[in-house]
Amino acid sequence: MNNKFPKSFLWGGAISSGQADGGFFEGGKGTDTQSLRYFNPEWSREERNENRDINMTSSRFEAALKTNDTLHYPFKRGIDFYNKYKEDLSLLDELGLQIFRTSIDWSRIFPNGDDESPNEEGIQFYIDLFTECQNRGMKVFATILHYGIPVNLVTKYGGWKNRKTIYFFEKYARTLFERLGDLVDYWLPFNEINCNRFNPYNGCALIKDQEENYNQSIFQAGHHQFVANALAVKAANEILDNPAIGGMIARFTTYPATCKPEDVMQTVLDENYKNYFYTDVMVRGKYPSYTKRMFEELDVSLEIEPGDLELIRDYTVNFISFSYYMSMLTSVDPEYEVTSGNLLSGIKNPHLETSDWGWQIDPIGLRISLNDMYDRYQLPIFIAENGLGAYDKVENNEIHDDYRIDYLSQHIDQMREAIEDGVELLGYTMWGIIDIVSCGTIEMSKRYGVIYVEADDAGNGTLKRIKKDSFYWYQKKIKENS
Ligand code: BG6
Repeated sequence: MNNKFPKSFLWGGAISSGQADGGFFEGGKGTDTQSLRYFNPEWSREERNENRDINMTSSRFEAALKTNDTLHYPFKRGIDFYNKYKEDLSLLDELGLQIFRTSIDWSRIFPNGDDESPNEEGIQFYIDLFTECQNRGMKVFATILHYGIPVNLVTKYGGWKNRKTIYFFEKYARTLFERLGDLVDYWLPFNEINCNRFNPYNGCALIKDQEENYNQSIFQAGHHQFVANALAVKAANEILDNPAIGGMIARFTTYPATCKPEDVMQTVLDENYKNYFYTDVMVRGKYPSYTKRMFEELDVSLEIEPGDLELIRDYTVNFISFSYYMSMLTSVDPEYEVTSGNLLSGIKNPHLETSDWGWQIDPIGLRISLNDMYDRYQLPIFIAENGLGAYDKVENNEIHDDYRIDYLSQHIDQMREAIEDGVELLGYTMWGIIDIVSCGTIEMSKRYGVIYVEADDAGNGTLKRIKKDSFYWYQKKIKENS
């Protein structure tokens, strides 16, 4: 096998505005839903995990709206990328990065979500940021929405439950295409759109204790997001010349726990309901036939307005994208040991090791998913996220993160195999290329980067950036393959 990647393959790194930017009180930014998520640095590991599952309650939400506290709201701090992006991009340039993925903060562009005109300071920030990428020869992969929406849209309209949010999003997306269109190479309207089901506060701004029929609200909000996605594709095609605009899911690669037909059937259902449903709608342009039964069983009845299904049919994405961190097992038998994972927990696989956070490390699962997704859709694929969240130790200003090098190297080998299998793989934006606040557990100590950021869970630290061993390793990998 030829070990090299195709010349056109894009080597990259990814972060999100909510986890990295900080600058909460600067540049005319409004309050967004992610910045209201509460964290206590005194919490034990178990409490951090429980908090991830609670996610948001009405009382926490109300309390967060009334405070300027940043200690317990790490997303307000991030890693101060807002002020340090030039220094960070210079390091990423030294790394040899060819594409940089980040998200645009809706509340920096439209602080209240329903504003008449955009916040020019917010637009200027992204013009400067993306121009800096361009000047350094890096392509830009921009996520339009990575979870956080302007909080005013939730308090005033009910967020994604309300159809009005579709049109506020459309206006936001149109503004981005018009003002930043010539600086962005790849667009992603929604980060992990299936998150609306598996983490409904992050995914679609729902607070569970306010919902009478949680599933109904989740899928109704999800329908609005599908329409919003289609309208974003439509706008991109009207405004831009030949735009690359994709659909993304969090990919839960799932295997049957045994070869019992019941477990294999459960795998088919899990794959359809948790993964393919979302890409089927965005790529094939319609609600798949299996949703009828899924909705019946979940007691969901969607309100679909005239024209919605036509938009979904006519404006589909032209590449697919996913995040991949781990795989899981499924079974009809409830007695199995369960382990943690990205957004979802799953049955433990005895053949796999787990990360410090219990996520099962499965490089071959990536090759399996790439083959499955490519075979199903025949569209080019971009791996938008992949990486290892781990505890790092600084020793004499160095970080010896062999565990991360192992993880990345094995996953990259499997990407290469998938290309050899015939998958059209556009590129790879390694997740959390520079340490950022973890999305699930809101802590700094879960680190993904090849660049270390000196900050602890309580926000103490110089924010100094230090290159880890994995930095030099990734730099070499990119060089050898470019
Ligand atoms: C993905 C999200 O689901 O997983 C990222 O898109 C997130 O925002 C990543 O950071 C890893 O999850 P965590 O909880 O380890 O930060």
